[in-house]
Amino acid sequence: MSVRYDDVLGPLRTAYDARAAWRDGLAKEPWKLVERQAFRERLAPGARLLEIGAGSGQDSAWFQAEGLSVVAVDLSAAMVAHCRAKGVEAHVMDFLHLDFPAGSFDAVYALSCLLHVPNHDLPAVLAAVRAVLRPGGLLFVGVYGGDESAEGPIDGDEHVPPRFFSWRTDEQLLGFATDAGFEVVDFHPVALDDGHRFQSLTLRAPGR
Ligand SMILES: C[S@@+](CC[C@H](N)C(=O)[O-])C[C@H]1O[C@@H](n2cnc3c(N)ncnc32)[C@H](O)[C@@H]1O
Repeated sequence: MSVRYDDVLGPLRTAYDARAAWRDGLAKEPWKLVERQAFRERLAPGARLLEIGAGSGQDSAWFQAEGLSVVAVDLSAAMVAHCRAKGVEAHVMDFLHLDFPAGSFDAVYALSCLLHVPNHDLPAVLAAVRAVLRPGGLLFVGVYGGDESAEGPIDGDEHVPPRFFSWRTDEQLLGFATDAGFEVVDFHPVALDDGHRFQSLTLRAPGR
C-alpha cells in the first residue's frame, strides 16, 4: 500500500520541531541564493508572496527585505516561531489546509518541502496551492531528485524520526505540474557538489 500524507505529517512535525534551532543556524548554499534571486526577478515590486514549508523563515525574511509582502506557513510550530522572530507573518498550516482566500497570492515559494509529500497526495497539494494563487500567479518548486522514483525514509537521516521523502524523475515531476494545470515557465536541474541533484521548476497558474 502506498504511503499517505496523513501518515507522514506527525513524524515530520516531530522531526522538524526538534531541529528548528539547528536548521536556523545553517547558512544557505550559494546555489540556493541563485535560485531564489532568479525567482525574485520574475516578481513585480511589492508582490504578495506565500512561502510554504518555510522552515525558519530565512527565505521569507529575505523576500520581505526585498519589498515583497510575505506570509510564511509551516507544519512545525517551532519553525513558525523562528519565522515570527524574524518579523515575518507566519502560521502553522500544512499544505492541504492553506486557510487563505482563493487567488490571494501573486506567487508561492516552495523550496525543499514538496519532497515530503507522497506521490499519492501531490495532486491534491498542487490543487491547494493553485487555489490560493491568482490567475497567472507563479509557483517555484525546488526538490531533490531526477535519477529514480522512490518513496520512504532516507538512511542515516540526522532527524528523528527519520523523515519521509519522495524522489521523482524529471518526467514525473513535470507531469504532476502539468496535470495540475500549471504552465512550465522554466525547468532546470542543478548538479550539486555532494552528488545530489536538484530540480528547479517555475510554474504559472492558468488564466491572467
Ligand atoms: C527541508 S525543510 C525546508 C525549509 C525551507 N523551505 C528551506 O529551504 O530552508 C522542509 C520544511 O517543510 C515543512 N513541511 C514538511 N511537510 C509539510 C507540510 N505537509 N505542510 C507544511 N509544511 C511542511 C517542514 O516542517 C520543514 O520546515
